[in-house]
Amino acid sequence: MSLVRSVVLGVGGYLPEKTLTNAELSTMVDTSDEWITQRTGIKERHIAAKGELTSDLATAAARVALANAGVSIAEIDLIILATATPDNTFPASAVTVQEKLGMRHGAAFDIQAVCSGFVFALSQADAMIRSGQVKKVIVIGAETFSRIVDWTDRGTCVLFGDGAGAVVLSGEPQPGDTHDRGVHASRLRSDGHYKEMLYVDGGPSSTGTVGHLRMEGREVFKHAVGMITDVIEDVFATTGFSAADIDWFVPHQANMRIIDASAKKLGIESEKVIRTVSLHGNTSAASIPLALSVASADGRLKKGDLVLLESMGGGFTWGAILLRW
Ligand code: ACO
Repeated sequence: MSLVRSVVLGVGGYLPEKTLTNAELSTMVDTSDEWITQRTGIKERHIAAKGELTSDLATAAARVALANAGVSIAEIDLIILATATPDNTFPASAVTVQEKLGMRHGAAFDIQAVCSGFVFALSQADAMIRSGQVKKVIVIGAETFSRIVDWTDRGTCVLFGDGAGAVVLSGEPQPGDTHDRGVHASRLRSDGHYKEMLYVDGGPSSTGTVGHLRMEGREVFKHAVGMITDVIEDVFATTGFSAADIDWFVPHQANMRIIDASAKKLGIESEKVIRTVSLHGNTSAASIPLALSVASADGRLKKGDLVLLESMGGGFTWGAILLRW
């Protein structure tokens, strides 16, 4: 039975020009390249320039994705921007992106699920496409975590970076079988019981300030692999696919040890894992679309490949999406 699925037509990424290496960080806080590399796999991260906003990063990534898709802004019905670091408390940074892209029609809004933001946004876009509300959507993950990191806290400041990634999604009729291109399943989870383990200690309704990121790293690490693999097993059970069918595993890029432990637990071969954390750091909601843009640009990710996305972040929030590229 033929059905409409949300197919990725194009992908793009943007990284700010300035990089910050582990060696440079070790002149700012009491840390070392060896400690950071061993615990996280991170070597460097990009940092937005003064005055360069989340909406600027998001707009740049969206332009690349539109060009890659061969789609004009006039064809887009909706922009969803996943971010935990918006330009302002309101309006949504998505409307600023809408304006910067010269789009006066359709709608734009933000989604806030921290590092799981892109998975939540893609799932939302897919639901709206399949319901017939919209046909073409730009889904963006963009962050400037450098603005909320406490640069005196070596336990967190070494982990994060800035960047943006975007995909253009389109509702396309498909035959309705396992070979269909597009999204096959998505699963979203959250549990606010864990909100104190990874949070920002400020906000408009609590302190009236922006605040800084606070994290109990060891606790996050302890829960991450179990939560990630649970939700993926759920996606496998729903679709009938298994780890052996996956061409590419594109996990949230928080920490090399979490990525490798998750792949191992799921039985996904190491060569099928896309890893960008060493050069990007943890870019929160931007990390998955950035990784997709890298794997697409270097020719690994090809039309027809079965791709598994996974994320876990503050809240906690976590989720997985299985799609055919
Ligand atoms: N350089 C040197 N030493 C450090 C640093 C640093 N940058 N940071 C902490 N240390 C020290 C600590 O002070 C501590 O010293 P002590 O034993 O003298 O007290 C020691 O290293 C061990 O600290 P832990 O926090 O226990 O180190 P751990 O092995 O747990 O590694 C890390 C810390 C890398 C943060 C790890 O817990 C981790 O990766 N957690 C997951 C974090 C994560 O991925 N978060 C993001 C996921 S969600 C999202 O993406 C928003």
